[in-house]
Amino acid sequence: SKLELNCADSFGGDSMATIKAAILGFGTVGQGIYNIVNEKREDLKKSLGLELEISAILVNNVGKERMATPGVLVTDNFEDIINIPGLQVVFEAIVNEEPAYNYLCRAIDKGCHVITANKVMFSKYSIPLHERAKSRGVFIGYEATTAGGVPVIKTLKNLLQVNSVKRIQGILNGTSNYILTQMRQDECPFDDSLKEAQDLGYAEADPFNDVSGQDAFRKLMILSALAFKKQPTWNDVRVVGIDEISLEDVRKAKEQGLRYRHVAEIEQDENGELYASVGPQLVGPDHPLYSIEGVNNAVALDTNYIGTLTLVGPGAGMYPTASVMVEDYAEIIGKRAGFFITI
Ligand code: NDP
Ligand code: HSE
Repeated sequence: SKLELNCADSFGGDSMATIKAAILGFGTVGQGIYNIVNEKREDLKKSLGLELEISAILVNNVGKERMATPGVLVTDNFEDIINIPGLQVVFEAIVNEEPAYNYLCRAIDKGCHVITANKVMFSKYSIPLHERAKSRGVFIGYEATTAGGVPVIKTLKNLLQVNSVKRIQGILNGTSNYILTQMRQDECPFDDSLKEAQDLGYAEADPFNDVSGQDAFRKLMILSALAFKKQPTWNDVRVVGIDEISLEDVRKAKEQGLRYRHVAEIEQDENGELYASVGPQLVGPDHPLYSIEGVNNAVALDTNYIGTLTLVGPGAGMYPTASVMVEDYAEIIGKRAGFFITI
């Protein structure tokens, strides 16, 4: 749906030179946002005509040793954040559905634009969040929720203006693909490969969702909501992870010239019914996902006019993820003079 509004109001008019933002969560992604905002401060100021100031950071444990953030309030109390006078943007990079959903609802109600990386929360609450944002005249950025640094959300939004999507197939979890690649290339055992993915900032703090397929499933549901304007019934979708694949399985596949890939796919039939599945597949050299290695994700979009469009790139990690969140910010600010919002 489309909505015309004048976002200058929510930025306090053109006279205001500084945008005040808060970051919820200061782990891999939150720190990446902070670093990029600082590195790109002057460039963003020049291109957008406004300065972005990180006013506050929300964490769980204020006593934890972490990088210095001079002049920034670091708190474990969301009330300190939501009561910042003139707060305009909230970057959300915490985990789980709650309290993230509640925090974003409150931020929207206050008139803040919100930019989230939290796919567990967003896959469930994208519709009420969009409705809330629409009624309040603010934007939601969620590029980072799906496929990390791969710009699949903005690509989909753009092509859906003319094309329709029939099928989406992809590798949507960087940790799983990294583990499968390490097991095959280096014969590195599953647990050691997972540990590497955690050390590199790819895996979730609790990697259950990564290796059980649930993370890829949530991302597929976000793509479904955007591409088909609905999701299949979650319980009808068979979701299998990579946690049952042994080094011996990977070795045998390699001998046959095959590779394990963790594939998420969804298709709409002519009656509008959606069929989705998430799980490992053995693919040969002629399969488009065969060459996708390491932390990379790939998303193939089958469309009526373009044909098949495939996007490939880093699906997890500090800078790929944080950079698309700052891009969302730049896009939102760019629209503030009052154009069309597509949700
Ligand atoms: P981390 O575990 O590295 O960091 C999470 C941060 O959130 C920590 O700073 C933690 O505080 C804080 N936090 C967690 N729960 C709460 C809470 N209830 N209240 C306040 N603060 C809280 O996670 P990531 O940075 O890796 O991921 C953040 C989000 O981004 C997740 O939703 C994840 O799924 C998503 N994401 C991650 C990607 C990645 O590559 N890592 C890529 C795309 C999305 P404290 O530091 O005190 O523990
Ligand atoms: N843990 C996730 C992954 C992060 O490995 O894909 C990106 O959403």
